Amino acid sequence: MTWQDIRKIELHLHLEGAAPPDFIRRLAKEKSISLTRVFDAQGHYRFDDFPHFLQVYEAATSVLKRPEDYARLTTAVLEQSAADGVIYTEAFLSPDFCGGGDLAGWREYLHAIQEAAEAAETAHGITLRGIVTCIRHFGPYTARQIARCAAETAGAFITGFGMGGNETMGRQGDFAWSFDCAREAGLRLTTHAGEFAGPESVRQALDDLRVSRIGHGVRAAEDPALMERLAEAGTVLEVCPGSNIALGLYPDLRAHPIAKLRAAGVKVTVSTDDPPFFRTSMSQEYQGLERAFGWDEDDFAALNRTAVEAAFCDATTRKRLEGKLKAGPRKRRELP
Ligand code: HPA
Ligand code: ZN
Repeated sequence: MTWQDIRKIELHLHLEGAAPPDFIRRLAKEKSISLTRVFDAQGHYRFDDFPHFLQVYEAATSVLKRPEDYARLTTAVLEQSAADGVIYTEAFLSPDFCGGGDLAGWREYLHAIQEAAEAAETAHGITLRGIVTCIRHFGPYTARQIARCAAETAGAFITGFGMGGNETMGRQGDFAWSFDCAREAGLRLTTHAGEFAGPESVRQALDDLRVSRIGHGVRAAEDPALMERLAEAGTVLEVCPGSNIALGLYPDLRAHPIAKLRAAGVKVTVSTDDPPFFRTSMSQEYQGLERAFGWDEDDFAALNRTAVEAAFCDATTRKRLEGKLKAGPRKRRELP
């Protein structure tokens, strides 16, 4: 059995952030767009720190100009994830990039993404659900438009609402209107917190936005009372160890608090965030966790059970995924 054969659930993936560099270069060439200062000499994405990462991310995303581009991106990303053993992914989708926050424009992009996802499900056995995501550094006013886009398109495919972007700008509570709007539309909620901002940002996410999951949240490990609160509330952390290391939060996996959080009873899951930016994949994350903490097949099975319970999907999908996980690692040539 290889790492790719373990069936995996991923809850935290930015769709544009999963774009292979070759894909972005090809699209830029087709459209005669020159991308400067996005790639290094080897052709990898290149950035110095988190704000710079966000700039490079937005520069790379600027070549995705039409719904068809997002359909192609969805196909490429899901093919790649399925080959890595991922059976279910939740992707952050940004109406800010898809239609500029306009509802009619967003509907066109969403239609294209959803069609591509359905084709990938048939071809590769991977399921996608979308979390509409506002971008924190675009401010609370823009976030309201994004929440409206989310509320208007909530359903079987768009199942969640979240917030990414620069966590050091403003406060979680500035976005409460948007999260309330999404909640009232029946969407499940998550926000990036406790990555570049400390434990206080996780408290604010719980108090002011009332989310059931937190993107990253790893800085909660600095605060025992907060870990206890997360454990008691059953809040699920979408932990992305490779991302945290690539962005300089921790020097290496051994210094990463995922095992500490888990030992404190906090529900942790594992995701990749923006895999080609951080030069990672789900299989590489699992392999690293085995090396750093000795986690074995049973630990990964427990991790995936937590993820499937916390997935923003309907009961029928959850049952189907649980069945696949129970069947154990996939056999050669089997769909994920
Ligand atoms: N963190 C926060 N915002 C983001 C990210 C990320 O990793 N990727 C795209 N937007
Ligand atoms: Zn993220």
